[in-house]
Amino acid sequence: MKLTLKIWRQKNAQDKGGIVDYPIDGIEPDMSFLEMLDVLNEQLINKGEEPVAFDHDCREGICGMCSLFINGEAHGPDRGVTTCQLHMRMFKDGDTIFIEPFRAKAFPVIKDLVVDRSSLDRIQHAGGFISVNTSGNTIDANTIPINKHDADKSFDAAACIGCGACVATCKNGSAMLFVGAKVSQYALLPQGKVEAVDRVLNMVHQMDLEGFGNCTNTGACEIECPKGISLENIARMNREYLSASLKG
Ligand code: SF4
Ligand code: FES
Repeated sequence: MKLTLKIWRQKNAQDKGGIVDYPIDGIEPDMSFLEMLDVLNEQLINKGEEPVAFDHDCREGICGMCSLFINGEAHGPDRGVTTCQLHMRMFKDGDTIFIEPFRAKAFPVIKDLVVDRSSLDRIQHAGGFISVNTSGNTIDANTIPINKHDADKSFDAAACIGCGACVATCKNGSAMLFVGAKVSQYALLPQGKVEAVDRVLNMVHQMDLEGFGNCTNTGACEIECPKGISLENIARMNREYLSASLKG
């Protein structure tokens, strides 16, 4: 395939940045999107030019490191996949592809397509944990019976990989789907009950401090989430928050 890539280039956080055109040839439909960018970067390096900076790690849809807004969609045109799982067969010979970073007030651009998503980490630090006695007397988790329905719902919420596509997709730059998933995965389990009140209050407080927008129930986040995180997690977080506020 022969393609025209229109890629956001930005030297650093202070640089204004802009779209630069890169014609590219010899792209196979079976290549992943990131392999296609690897080919481009090899060509740029061979020409003595600066390669395009982009985030990636596992390249298996697990770590949440890859991002990219591709033709106006977080993680590109396929459904239920991350950018690293997107294949070039989703595009046609002769296509023009716009590639931009995830954009949100809470995700400042570091360089080219790399944004700082540590705001999500700080929300996790604020409450995304349980306190467990690890002195050697830890009770095996399987000794606590858990309703199958709750266990499944918790597991579904825990599938969130913290990629930030929900934030980048939301017109308000809201992180409610991410935080809803992180609150829900513990709220549904007995192990999460002990710190439930502090967890939801602290995580929502940190979310507001980081400058994420409010949720207006548009639902775009759910559509673009590569892990199928449901809006019901936002509703559960709101119930947890109301209950915690009344107790607090
Ligand atoms: S809720 Fe979905 S889109 Fe948002 S961070 Fe988690 S996996 Fe990514
Ligand atoms: S690189 Fe790990 S999820 Fe894409």
